[in-house]
Amino acid sequence: MKNIVILISGSGSNMAAIVRAAEQGRWAERLNTRVAAVLSNRADAQGLALAQAHGIATAVLDHKAFAHRDAFDAALMAEIDRHAPALVLLAGFMRILTPAFVAHYAGRLLNIHPSLLPAFPGLNTHQRALDAGCQFVGATVHQVTTELDHGGILAQAVVPVLPGDTADTLAVRVLSQEHLIYPQAVAHFLA
Ligand code: GAR
Repeated sequence: MKNIVILISGSGSNMAAIVRAAEQGRWAERLNTRVAAVLSNRADAQGLALAQAHGIATAVLDHKAFAHRDAFDAALMAEIDRHAPALVLLAGFMRILTPAFVAHYAGRLLNIHPSLLPAFPGLNTHQRALDAGCQFVGATVHQVTTELDHGGILAQAVVPVLPGDTADTLAVRVLSQEHLIYPQAVAHFLA
């Protein structure tokens, strides 16, 4: 069985979409794959309870308990590797990863980012797109490389900007598309 480990920091709605897709799409039988663990750097990440309710192992590693980014990433790698993952998914995991971490999971580390990369890497993507006068925004599933929010693109969703849109309304509209493309991209990647 191929194991997926998902890293979250907050609501975990993308993680939830992947867990649902794995159940409804019978990934265990069809893809010989299961979501083995959900890890968070924040104890208050709402997604942890949902993962537990689905019988998925969870763990919290508080980055503030580590003196350096290197030490945190080493501990995170040890926790992830307990599950011998075929795939590690960043799903709203709001930490910059060290090159050592990225190298360790090269070829099996994916992220979802709320913009049409290569436009708007980094934070505040929707406000920056509005400020730039973009008529379309979106989300990207991509391979993770050492350069932040770069790496091979696996899937994108495009969402129109409507009159009166704010960063918040765009975030909601884009997030609903993220919930479609991330599970699809993962299934495709595994198939
Ligand atoms: C999602 O919109 C995701 O694209 C974004 O955080 C949100 C997490 O929501 N990720 C990033 O900004 C990464 N740089 P979720 O916790 O409900 O899945």
